[in-house]
Amino acid sequence: METKNITPYPLSPTSGTMQEDKIVGRENEITSLLRLLKGQSVSVEEIRRMGKTLLVQKLAYKCNSNKLPEEFKGEKFKAKYFTFQGQDDLGHLISYLILELKKMKEWYQIDFDKTLQSIKEIINSPTLTFENLSININLPIHQKHWKDIFNKVFDDISANLEKNESKLILIFDELPIMLWEWYKKGKQDDAMLLLNILRERRQKLEPKGLRFIFCGSIGMQIVLDTFRTKYGYTGEATNDMAKYSVGSFSLKEVQFLCECYTLSGFNIIKEDKLSLWESIYNYSNGIPFYVSKLFNIIQTDHDKNITELTIKSAYDSIINDPIHHDKFKQLLDRINIYYSEPLVKAESMKAILDFLSKQEEFVSEEDIINGINQEEVKTHLYTLLADHYLLREMKNEKRHYKIKYEIFRKWWKINQA
Ligand SMILES: Nc1ncnc2c1ncn2[C@@H]1O[C@H](COP(=O)(O)OP(=O)(O)OP(=O)(O)O)[C@@H](O)[C@H]1O
Ligand SMILES: [Mg+2]
Repeated sequence: METKNITPYPLSPTSGTMQEDKIVGRENEITSLLRLLKGQSVSVEEIRRMGKTLLVQKLAYKCNSNKLPEEFKGEKFKAKYFTFQGQDDLGHLISYLILELKKMKEWYQIDFDKTLQSIKEIINSPTLTFENLSININLPIHQKHWKDIFNKVFDDISANLEKNESKLILIFDELPIMLWEWYKKGKQDDAMLLLNILRERRQKLEPKGLRFIFCGSIGMQIVLDTFRTKYGYTGEATNDMAKYSVGSFSLKEVQFLCECYTLSGFNIIKEDKLSLWESIYNYSNGIPFYVSKLFNIIQTDHDKNITELTIKSAYDSIINDPIHHDKFKQLLDRINIYYSEPLVKAESMKAILDFLSKQEEFVSEEDIINGINQEEVKTHLYTLLADHYLLREMKNEKRHYKIKYEIFRKWWKINQA
């Protein structure tokens, strides 16, 4: 792995967007992802706020600015980030993709005029231009052509990749949420069509150099399971993609992030730094979002003085003060939203978390089953594991579980259980 000693730079602890060249750490994750992407497409999943978006944005930045480790030089990776949040239907999505892909023309000398010509022919609209594409192509009368347009665009791009012996990674952030929203609006046919198109394109065009990263805070599994049960959907949309889950920062990464935040104007006794960074690492469980939260609170409530006391006090407000709870609530909300059919499923999952939140160590499956009065605990434990709420360990060939992050366990115990 590449270990470069870069100097910290000032960062303010806000939770807004970040300049792509300022995104901290994740070098090992990027290397692991690219090793997977050499051969196939990848699905990145984790609960909200773990740092998925910034990870894939940094990956794209490094690909496009020639900053990848030596081992990837031969691959000629390029990447393009898309966010799918708020795309209304397949028509809008296709327009968005085409308009964004057009911006990459300079990398690949893709002759988009030719593609546009083909699209005009497909929808029989000679006056169509790229400028009015978005208000035109998504009209319902063109619906029957969406698939053909999609195919054409990706065929053209891939022909170029093959010619240049390069690889293009298309990053689709929030794909599962978008599909879920389409389903909620009765547009499940669009969703299933898109899944089928993506699968077919992926399998046909991966050999030519096209790669996808699907990224989302709800698993594709939730969407697929729902389509399977409700509409008998049988497509295997992502089963041959590699799965990748984003973890916490290492102590080193937390230290670096702390240095950057401190440079934006915090007060600290230099000699105490190492032990204070370690405290922050422990309280935040290495989750960068909570590192930024701690600094945020120290900034507003403690006049920017970083000490053992102010860190502890900031941590206590994260756990106790409802104004900081919106991001914890997602843990509860996503169970209510995605697992409430049937309702008992959500209830059981919450009962399991209530129970486990009171245990600091791993608990055996047997003890969990005996400890709560619910049906199908085994199945729900598995779902919670796959959905990144729990950790599992084998002891004496028996399954043991615990809540994955201590900060979540504590919040759940104090505010939910
Ligand atoms: N690599 C990083 N460098 C600096 N800060 C980070 C990094 N990763 C995460 N963070 C912090 O955590 C916050 C959440 O990160 P990000 O938006 O990438 O998470 P996410 O998993 O995409 O969340 P969501 O599921 O809500 O989309 C950021 O706003 C930032 O404060
Ligand atoms: Mg995100």
